[in-house]
Amino acid sequence: MSTNEPSIPKWLKAAMRIDVLTLFPEMFASPMGSSIVKRALDAGIVEITLTNIRDFAADSYNKVDDKPYGGGPGMVMMPGPVFDCYEHVIALSPQKPRTILLTPQGKPFDQAKARELSMEKRLILIAGRYEGFDERIRIGLGAEQLSIGDYVLSGGELPAMVVIDAVVRLLAGALGDRDSAKDDSFSDGLLEYPQYTRPEVFRQMKVPDVLLSGDHARIAQWRRQQALERTKKHRPDLLGDRPYDPGPSEGPNP
Ligand code: ADE
Repeated sequence: MSTNEPSIPKWLKAAMRIDVLTLFPEMFASPMGSSIVKRALDAGIVEITLTNIRDFAADSYNKVDDKPYGGGPGMVMMPGPVFDCYEHVIALSPQKPRTILLTPQGKPFDQAKARELSMEKRLILIAGRYEGFDERIRIGLGAEQLSIGDYVLSGGELPAMVVIDAVVRLLAGALGDRDSAKDDSFSDGLLEYPQYTRPEVFRQMKVPDVLLSGDHARIAQWRRQQALERTKKHRPDLLGDRPYDPGPSEGPNP
């Protein structure tokens, strides 16, 4: 990760380039500096640059926001600094980007969208602050809008980090053999089944017998049932028209 500078040698081509436009690049240091995203950065699987929108403010006060036309509370991100910053970032690579604004007004970000974005070569994520973006930013940049949930955060930085994490872990080679995205929740439209590890008995709670049976077909069937039951209980909206037949349940409540 770097500010404006590529984080990998020039001769090494990353599978994906992500440019983030933000007023708070320092917020990204910790999540980008640990775990799977750090490993993917170190391995050159992804290249991430952070560019501060404030560096493109036109006046000596570094102003990037102003009062909304028509009145109302709060401040709105001005189009000028965002456009200038965007045009600077575009020129950092010849790759055509897919541009995304993080905003609560966006379409919901979900696992299907993460998979879709993981196929792109280049993403530009724009994280806003204040009451939102001047509408001409979205229109002029041809950006799609994404929301990470029906709640309002103080800015788009945390949502941008959420998108980066969810996308980067899907890039080939980002997850080691020990991790796998295959059985993740939502990977087949269901919540993930319950997982257990050693010890076999913990505070009088026992691992379900079926998982100790060595019978792979029964284990697969049990996991499927548990995933269905859990989804029905916590996220019935995910089931849609899917026929619901979890069969007899074994083990504790999902
Ligand atoms: N900015 C503020 N809240 C947000 C949300 N829920 N999703 C995306 N961007 C945001």
